Order: sequence, then C-alpha cells, then structure tokens
Amino acid sequence: MRKKVTIVGAGATGGSMVEILQAKGYCDIVVVDIIEGLPQGKAGTNDWKDTAGSDVVVITSGSPRKPGMSREDLVNINANIVRDVAKKAVQHSPDAIIVEFANPMDAMCHIAKQATNLPRNRIIGQGGMLDSTRFRTFLGWEVGASVKDVDAYVLGGHTDATMVPIVSHAFIGGIPLRQLLPKDRIDAIVERTRKAGTEIVGLLGTSAWYSPAWGTVEMVESILLDRKRILPCSIHLEGEYGIKGSFVGVLAQLGARRLSRSSWSRTSSPA
Ligand code: LAC
Repeated sequence: MRKKVTIVGAGATGGSMVEILQAKGYCDIVVVDIIEGLPQGKAGTNDWKDTAGSDVVVITSGSPRKPGMSREDLVNINANIVRDVAKKAVQHSPDAIIVEFANPMDAMCHIAKQATNLPRNRIIGQGGMLDSTRFRTFLGWEVGASVKDVDAYVLGGHTDATMVPIVSHAFIGGIPLRQLLPKDRIDAIVERTRKAGTEIVGLLGTSAWYSPAWGTVEMVESILLDRKRILPCSIHLEGEYGIKGSFVGVLAQLGARRLSRSSWSRTSSPA
C-alpha cells in the first residue's frame, strides 16, 4: 500500500517539505493546519480526519523565531500547540511515527511524548540533520570541497548552547579534520555552526525553512523506504551514555517500524 505522510503546519517549513516529498513521489501527503485557508492554498486541509492512517506525522506547527529570540523563548507558545497536535496525530494515526520539528525541538519532543505516551522509537526529533548539514557546508566551503565529501555530525541539543559539533570524528575525503585545518579555523566554524540558526533569523527575519525541510525529508525517507540510514536525531535516551529520560541528539538508525541507536556513536566524544 502507498505510504502516507502528514505534515502538521502549512507554514514555510511545512510547505517546503510538501514540495520536496511531492517531487520524490513515493507517498501520499496531507498538510493540515488550524488556520483557515492557509493549508487549502497549499492543497491541504483543516480536517484531521484527512490525516487518518498516516505512516509518519511531521510536526512543524508552532511559532517560528523572530530576530532577538532564542529557540527556548518559544517554549510556552509552542508547548500547547505541540501537545494538542501530538494527541490529534495519534488519535487519527495510531501507528504513526512522529517526527518533531517545532522549537525548542528537544523540549517539544518531551511534550509530545508526555501527551501521547508513545515509545521512544515513535517520537524522533529533527535538529541534528539541519545542524550537521550546516557544519558540513561550512567545512566544505573552508577547504573548497563538496559538502558530499564532508563526513561530520552535530550531536547534543538543538540550541546554540547545547549543540556539539563533533570535531574529533569529522573527516573530509577520509582525512581527519584536524589534519586539514588549524585549530582557530575549526573553532570559528564550530562557533558559526552553533549560531547558524540565529544568523539566518537575523537575515530572514524568521526561522530557516529550506534546510530544515530537506533534513526532515531525509529522515522521513529513511523510515518510509526502510533505508536504515544512521542519522543525527533527537532520541529519548533511556540509559545510553549515562542519560535517562532526556531527548538528546545522537546517531540513530531509522527504518521501517523500528529505530535503534547506532553503536557508531558510542565512541564519539564531544571535542
Ligand atoms: C534553525 C531553527 C529552525 O536552526 O531551529 O534554523
């Protein structure tokens, strides 16, 4: 049977996700939003019944940032929205995997988990894909290499202060980053990576959407097509790395109906 994906939130990020998924062509897509007219303008709906039986529900709904705001400033505004949306998602799609993207993302994953009581392999946060792509892009620009040949991850939290670009395990064309660049350049790129979301808010006047949308679609694709990709995502840790009961960005394997933490990340240490 054809797979079905619901995108909750018909804003810029949701709209971009729909466009990318539509071009890929392997799933039916429903975009749902509470605002009258907005989803219809993007071939979507206000009616949750249309989302029934989704395999994946992506939550983008909530306020984006304005200049001067951190992701954490959105916590009170977005918690009520995410709580409500997560409940509705499960009510209409009891088997769906939820991919959470509203900010502050790690905290919103908690809200979704509290609201639905779903096991951890059914609530996955997107933030690491975006942050890792930014890190890889800046590294590629620095050395004049394609981003495709930069192998690097950002783990930890999806906030400026808590994200951890992993320098010790970053490679360009198979060569360890520290052999290619001096410390001061690496430090500058790590700092730019941490603040890249804020940099974009300063330029656009609102949160980024193209790169977040692409990052999320890569996760959705790995689930729908059972690609078993090992991707940086926010997962509810239950003792791994000595952490219990928190959503943290780690490397995890995403496939159809299951998700397991990658053993690759076990040796990664923040550097
Ligand atoms: C960012 C926001 C969307 O990092 O979290 O751009």
